[in-house]
Amino acid sequence: MMGGTSATSSEASLWIVIWLETELKVRERLSCAHLLYLNIMSENELTLDKFIETLNQFAARAFPVREVHSFLLETTLRQHEIEPYLLFDSEQYTRNLIHKSEEFELLAICWQPGQDAPTHGHEGEKCWSRVEKGRLRFTNYKEISSADSFDLEVLATIVGNLGHLDGPADIHKVENPFEESAVSLHIYSHPFPACDIYDLENHRKIRKTLGYFSKYGKLCE
Ligand SMILES: [Fe+2]
Repeated sequence: MMGGTSATSSEASLWIVIWLETELKVRERLSCAHLLYLNIMSENELTLDKFIETLNQFAARAFPVREVHSFLLETTLRQHEIEPYLLFDSEQYTRNLIHKSEEFELLAICWQPGQDAPTHGHEGEKCWSRVEKGRLRFTNYKEISSADSFDLEVLATIVGNLGHLDGPADIHKVENPFEESAVSLHIYSHPFPACDIYDLENHRKIRKTLGYFSKYGKLCE
């Protein structure tokens, strides 16, 4: 009986040693991969000035879609630099202007849990959204027009985590149905002062003027 117990204990100890060794190796590999990821991301982490400078270079070439797409996927922004622009409101999502020129504008949009932007168009301009914090749900549509009416076909609904890139957007709805607040970075080229809101229930379009909650880090009146 004693011998049997001793054999079982030895086996168990052996298994624990094997498990620990495997676990440590996996963790070592994971931490190496994680460090490599952090290293790559930190190399591609840009200051806000550098980010805007690159967008200015794209603006001079009418925002080449593939290149802008790659740039937005491969770079990050130093978070402490956009912190001053991240102003939230308890009533609705907020549009916070970071930079504006004739060619493009850069905004941080802040979403409290439960806030959303209704289905809207982008005036045929090139627009990208990137998730900077939290998660957002994007629903993209295609408009099927007829002489006196419109219909929308859902192309995709995607939950975008940190770094998710949506765009160039045509017609979409953006929601934060999650429990955590979220932030997205938006590039609009060219800037537009109004857009179409698609009232899907009543089958009509409503023209909406777009304003800002804050400009350059200061609340608008
Ligand atoms: Fe949008």
